Amino acid sequence: HQLMSDSLFIINGFAREYFTDTLFNSDEGQNVGLSYFEERGFTEETVRKFQLGYCLNQRDTFAQTALAKGYNLEYLQKTGLVTIRNEQPADNYRGRVIFPIHNQSGKILGFGARILVKSDRAPKYINSPENEIYVKSRVLYGTYFARHAIDKLNECLLVEGYTDVISLHQAGVENVVASSGTSLTQDQLRLIKKYTNNLTIIYDGDSAGIKAALRGLDMAVEESLNVKLVLLPDKEDPDSYVQRIGAVAFRTFIEENKQDFVLFKLQLSMQEAGNDSTKKSQLVNEIAETISKIDKAEDFTRQQDYIRQCSQLLKIDEQGLIALVNKFIR
Ligand code: CTP
Ligand code: MN
Ligand code: MN
Ligand code: MN
Ligand code: MN
Repeated sequence: HQLMSDSLFIINGFAREYFTDTLFNSDEGQNVGLSYFEERGFTEETVRKFQLGYCLNQRDTFAQTALAKGYNLEYLQKTGLVTIRNEQPADNYRGRVIFPIHNQSGKILGFGARILVKSDRAPKYINSPENEIYVKSRVLYGTYFARHAIDKLNECLLVEGYTDVISLHQAGVENVVASSGTSLTQDQLRLIKKYTNNLTIIYDGDSAGIKAALRGLDMAVEESLNVKLVLLPDKEDPDSYVQRIGAVAFRTFIEENKQDFVLFKLQLSMQEAGNDSTKKSQLVNEIAETISKIDKAEDFTRQQDYIRQCSQLLKIDEQGLIALVNKFIR
């Protein structure tokens, strides 16, 4: 297993260098790949820092180079870099820009490969398949670049995509990682907890973004993370928004729009319940259950604060809510 993992890391390392070299030193890489990054507002420094790359729009240039170097075809397929097409090895990421995914020590776990022009026939991103080193549910994109800033600021910002992380770094916001489009997992939350207890989720303001954010809530509370939420204006993601309004305005927006996640969820549910008394009592139960998940031993005052604030919002008796919360404990 260790040998297999080492081999996959070595192949990914080779591919990473190859794609960076292609980006900077081939005509197609410069004219297509680098131009694309420039148009998106990424500086050369940023492109180099994140080790971005380009895979030529040719059938098998990378595959043939790797095979000629002696890399094993079976392993090349395992990494997802090479597939078999018409019974011959072929490049899986051809004609795409490449985002390497680093582990915490900077080794390459896998890649995200983005198409340059939107198409109905091909997915926007192709990501590495799961293998011995790349387990999607355990990876947060950007941890390698963000960990010192997270530690220093004692806060981790969570965004959806690769380009969100990259644009925020370029704007000087470095304590940021991405869930890469999936909803948060327990393993990812534990990874964050190694660095900080303070998580700020920055998602799209649309309903899909809100739902994705809410799915992680109870899990995050169970991990004793202090979770804040920032909803961006409609149709914006952190990348588009920071590129449009600039670093200073973006930071101000984040600070002014941070809201407590538990209270946010409560207000949202209250709006949904309206005057329906069955729904109302259901949501009181739900919020009590959420509050009960805060580890008292670790964070007693936080639980008390929530009980006070939630009972005020719900216009119910504080002692009643405490009793309900206690029913969920044990
Ligand atoms: N994603 C994916 N496959 C897709 C679409 C999205 O893996 N077909 C993941 C990627 O990690 C992507 C993240 O989900 O970064 C967020 O998706 P989206 O917001 O659609 O992409 P952006 O990151 O905004 O990418 P871009 O700005 O290049 O369109
Ligand atoms: Mn620390
Ligand atoms: Mn969205
Ligand atoms: Mn985007
Ligand atoms: Mn996006």
